[in-house]
Amino acid sequence: MLLVTGGAGFIGSNFVLSTLAATGEPVVNLDKLTYAGNVRNLEALAGDPRHIFVKGDVCDRPLLRDLLARHRPRAILHFAAESHVDRSIQGPAEFVQTNLVGTFNLLDEARAFHDRLPDAEKRSFRFVHVSTDEVYGSLGESDSAFTENTAYAPNSPYAASKAGSDHLARAYWHTYGLPVVTTNCSNNYGPFQFPEKLIPLMIHNALAGKALPVYGDGQNVRDWLYVLDHCAALRAALERGRPGETYNIGGASETRNLDVVNRICGLLDEVRPRANGRYAELIQFVADRPGHDRRYAVDCSKLQAELGWKPIETFESGLKNTVRWYLEHAEWVADVTSGAYRNWVDANYAKRGAA
Ligand code: NAD
Ligand code: TYD
Repeated sequence: MLLVTGGAGFIGSNFVLSTLAATGEPVVNLDKLTYAGNVRNLEALAGDPRHIFVKGDVCDRPLLRDLLARHRPRAILHFAAESHVDRSIQGPAEFVQTNLVGTFNLLDEARAFHDRLPDAEKRSFRFVHVSTDEVYGSLGESDSAFTENTAYAPNSPYAASKAGSDHLARAYWHTYGLPVVTTNCSNNYGPFQFPEKLIPLMIHNALAGKALPVYGDGQNVRDWLYVLDHCAALRAALERGRPGETYNIGGASETRNLDVVNRICGLLDEVRPRANGRYAELIQFVADRPGHDRRYAVDCSKLQAELGWKPIETFESGLKNTVRWYLEHAEWVADVTSGAYRNWVDANYAKRGAA
């Protein structure tokens, strides 16, 4: 049995669905269901006794203690977090609370649980801490990619809160022997991603005939990984990762934001042409994100060499799948973009001068 936190969010729900399909191992899924969590992502598991959903907060220590004692998981996969950089700029408090305090609570309850396990279970127990490449800060044009030895230099409140949680995870291994494996992954994309992040936001706006807001000069670079490839890497880290180690995960797909948006427009021109004009005509340059990191690139040779993982999707094939998924799931998009989503979009883009 696995304990997954944040399993109703984008990556967590893909992990729960793909892991149950791949291994059949039961999952207890703890999620607070914030604006980013959506039980509809898990609809395919309705009535499946291998999936136990618990609505709750990783900051709730008695709940964590009870779940660990009751289900005795062999591993914890910790996804739960506030994850959107722009929201962390507007309201960092929630990020410190969930990402830092929540991770601390989970590590500390996991330590107490782990301490009491019989030796064999103690040795095989794992705490997989799911983190981001943003903890390493920003690269210049010609800098080499982040390795596991790159010094931490987080620039946004989101990245800083994740960096703090990585340091706590490290300390719980070094000080208490809790078998933690930390992963630092690049930008994910794919089904079930909330349309506040670049790729689903652009697909959503394009289909609605709305402006496609590109921050700054659009030349910022991100490395993109298809979400199911990330999930496979996490399973490799769970099964074969060495306790106390960190593993970078990436897609070797560095792309400038403007090129990402143009590619989405090109795909939509093919499969859902506009009545008049091309989607790229909707691109609008808007005010930049404060402290906007220029470039991320990830060297994941350690993961590939040690754990034998490699991605299946290229950025081209993954983006095609993603555009198709959003076209086929208009109802899901309509559901998550009603209500509070509109308030966020109004607040974030009005001040950037977007149409
Ligand atoms: P997401 O925002 O889509 O989902 C986060 C989930 O956590 C939601 O279901 C939410 O309800 C839940 N949650 C939030 N606060 C909680 C709390 N206090 N208690 C319990 N549940 C809570 O995020 P995501 O994109 O799926 O990211 C998952 C993890 O992966 C995060 O830790 C993130 O830092 C990391 N990560 C994300 C990316 C990416 O590109 N999205 C890349 C690398 C790493
Ligand atoms: P995002 O998906 O928010 O991920 P992150 O900030 O964690 O990398 O943004 C990806 C890139 O796209 C980032 O450089 C900011 C940029 N961006 C835009 O240009 N316009 C937008 O509307 C959004 C949401 C992001």
